[in-house]
Amino acid sequence: MTKAAAAAPFVIAIDGPAAAGKGTLARRLADHLGYPHLDTGLLYRAVGLKMIAGGADASDHDAAVAAAQALTAADLSAPALRGDAAAQAASQVAAIPAVRAALLRFQRDFAAQPPGGAAGAVLDGRDIGTVVCPDAALKLFVTAPLSVRAERRRRELRERGLAAIHMQVLQDMQERDARDATRDVAPLEPAKDAVIIDTSGLDPDAVLVMALAAVGAAQRSR
Ligand code: DC
Repeated sequence: MTKAAAAAPFVIAIDGPAAAGKGTLARRLADHLGYPHLDTGLLYRAVGLKMIAGGADASDHDAAVAAAQALTAADLSAPALRGDAAAQAASQVAAIPAVRAALLRFQRDFAAQPPGGAAGAVLDGRDIGTVVCPDAALKLFVTAPLSVRAERRRRELRERGLAAIHMQVLQDMQERDARDATRDVAPLEPAKDAVIIDTSGLDPDAVLVMALAAVGAAQRSR
């Protein structure tokens, strides 16, 4: 192994569909390892939210690309980013190749030079292992059946005081999954060398234990 390869940050790419538990795992893994974490969905949500706020249609390519190019760190903290309107708009703008291209540099810089000079970084999204960081030290694909994910999301919404009907949540999620998985550019799919974790019936601690076992194996094989 060359010196440069040995010094490369230990990048963990976590991909998967909505409400599979990848965000929770990414945060906990990053905390555990002392690595910074980038929730890349927030970038797409911020672009989607700018479109909604500006009264533009989320399918308006030019406006979406302009919003992606103008994105700043300050755009990533609005509470509305977590809402379903932002999620749906995010999924629409995420299908536009020029939007993805505009957000790629930010994500790759984060992985190549983790903030704070950390020895590694955790990025979660839909195309981290396949497109953003194809050379990541470890790729995890976190998933669960649609009905399990929809029920989780319904409970989460209820805990936030928002009424939600299981069928409606399921339909919205199915629509978003289909759009994310069938778009032409960087569709949601596991990288060929990803470790698949099905989180159905597992609590966050159990998922973390599985992920840490994969981290250990990846560290040993470096
Ligand atoms: O992970 P999330 O629910 O916050 O993502 C919102 C949308 O953004 C998702 O439906 C698809 C898109 N996205 C993407 O296309 N690529 C990523 N790396 C992250 C998110």
